[in-house]
Amino acid sequence: MSNTPSMAVELAGVALKNPIVVASGTFGFGREYGQFYDLSQLGGICVKGLTAAPREGNPPPRIAETPMGILNSVGLQNPGVDAFIAHDLPFLRQYDLKVIANISGNTPEEYGQMCEKLSAAGVDMIEVNISCPNVKAGGLAYGTKPELAAEVTEVAKRHATVPVMVKLSPNVTDVTEIARAVADAGADALSLINTLRGMRIDVNTRRPILKMNTGGLSGPAVLPVAVRMVWEVANAVSLPILGMGGVSTGEDAAQLMLAGASAVAVGTACFADPFTPLKVRDGLCEIAASQGLERVSQLTGGVRPW
Ligand code: SIN
Repeated sequence: MSNTPSMAVELAGVALKNPIVVASGTFGFGREYGQFYDLSQLGGICVKGLTAAPREGNPPPRIAETPMGILNSVGLQNPGVDAFIAHDLPFLRQYDLKVIANISGNTPEEYGQMCEKLSAAGVDMIEVNISCPNVKAGGLAYGTKPELAAEVTEVAKRHATVPVMVKLSPNVTDVTEIARAVADAGADALSLINTLRGMRIDVNTRRPILKMNTGGLSGPAVLPVAVRMVWEVANAVSLPILGMGGVSTGEDAAQLMLAGASAVAVGTACFADPFTPLKVRDGLCEIAASQGLERVSQLTGGVRPW
């Protein structure tokens, strides 16, 4: 009989009781899911993307199902960083989990201001989103150009007193180029992947299904892209990685860890089954136990070359 492995991991010096984090934009600020189970069972939460001012987001339709996934063009709907600090952070602080604030800015200075406020408010980590495909200013514009990605990272680092993790886009030719730029600018960790740009068309109306025409694809269909990109980035830079993209089972999470992730975020699968993060945690633990590991962290980077 195998022993139960330790599930504790570390992400840029932040101790997580297990590697399972819930992905930004799929778990709100935890209130709805907190009705189903004790959020302290999670390693951490990346909260819905915050902006300097409240945003209503894009007009509907802004969600469309796809084979094994969904397209979203939400457009960063959120109450703004100040309301998060006043109302949502205290709610999350009732629980024993790490709070990671995801932020998007229109300018590097906005990222800096939010980093200052959120650090002072006591979040555990900041996830700098330079990869939202659904907004005109900021967003993907920063995540697809190494020099802009580096500038945002540098400003965020200057204003943050907690670790800064930069969320990378898969909508680039070479993800390692952006990863290197962000690492050189001082990032403490990387998270990837954000959604892949996609489009669906209603053949009867001949209109795009999403009002914004295009959106970001997530869900099980994107897992192999995420595994490939985590592996490429892990081989290119020495920063810890929060891997995500299409995770719905312990095996999916183990793949991302073997590719090089220190922790794993579960996102779209939460919409179909709110308990998915806990099932992924348990499945991952079983895999580590079946392989005789003492610590789940021993999976990280363990992929074998052919
Ligand atoms: C959105 O709110 O449009 C999604 C956020 C993101 O993809 O970063």
